[in-house]
Amino acid sequence: MQKPRGSYRLSQFADRDQELSRLGQQATTFDTIDRPILQQAGLQDGMCVVDIGSGPGAITTRIAGEVMQGFVVAVDRDAQMLGRLRGASDAAGLCNIQPVACELYDLPIADDAVDFVVMRFILQHLHDPAAALREGLRVLRPGGTLCAIDADDRWLTLYPEPSTFRALVDASGARQASTNGNRYIGRKLPVMLAKAGFGGCAVDVRVATTSHFTREVFVNAALSYRLDEAATAYDPALARAELKDWVSDESQPAWGYVAIFGAWGRKPGRR
Ligand SMILES: C[S@@+](CC[C@H](N)C(=O)[O-])C[C@H]1O[C@@H](n2cnc3c(N)ncnc32)[C@H](O)[C@@H]1O
Repeated sequence: MQKPRGSYRLSQFADRDQELSRLGQQATTFDTIDRPILQQAGLQDGMCVVDIGSGPGAITTRIAGEVMQGFVVAVDRDAQMLGRLRGASDAAGLCNIQPVACELYDLPIADDAVDFVVMRFILQHLHDPAAALREGLRVLRPGGTLCAIDADDRWLTLYPEPSTFRALVDASGARQASTNGNRYIGRKLPVMLAKAGFGGCAVDVRVATTSHFTREVFVNAALSYRLDEAATAYDPALARAELKDWVSDESQPAWGYVAIFGAWGRKPGRR
């Protein structure tokens, strides 16, 4: 079994409750993006799904609602995440989610066992995303689909741009890279899927703008959580103040966008 590494651990956040709620809000904010991507990838009622890196279940519960006659195996290595997921599942009255605590590189699932694999906002955090994709391929039945949803910081814009914006985005990308993550993975997804052995790979890029949400929701989902009080590449107090002004000063015309990449491919062969 490989040593756990990568750029996301709940324990790295000073306020874990705040991070857990951010993941929930992010899933609500991007619901109109995630659903059409999953539908195009072929998610259907009755399927057996594995949600890899499920976290507290913000997307898992939505998927479980889509496959009511099927079920979702929610995989995460973090017990606190899975505890939250159980709570969310109970609160939603769902009984088709099975949480499993494990490393995603070594799933306790048989070969050729499931219809659909989801990897949402997880590949960007992995030291070996290609190995994770191969593990997803292994557990899929022939003809089954893996759908990866992720971001790419080249497709993140505010206009007018606060003076600290570029340094803040670059610094958070460099911080993630220093722990083997990749904030620029979105554009790579379809090629990574093809190289991992998936066939019929397709991609959809969906853009969320400040016209879809309030400026505050947008900035919270895409930027605020990256502010690092110990940053040296920018002045953290100034960055916080600039983002606050950008959000609250509605008298100033401004807009922003972030792109979310969805890529999917099928396991070759038919059962
Ligand atoms: C950014 S969260 C994404 C959660 C969820 N997919 C979503 O879209 O909201 C990443 C999750 O992956 C889990 N994770 C990271 N590396 C993992 C690994 N090597 N094995 C299993 N889970 C992992 C973390 O514990 C965390 O819950």
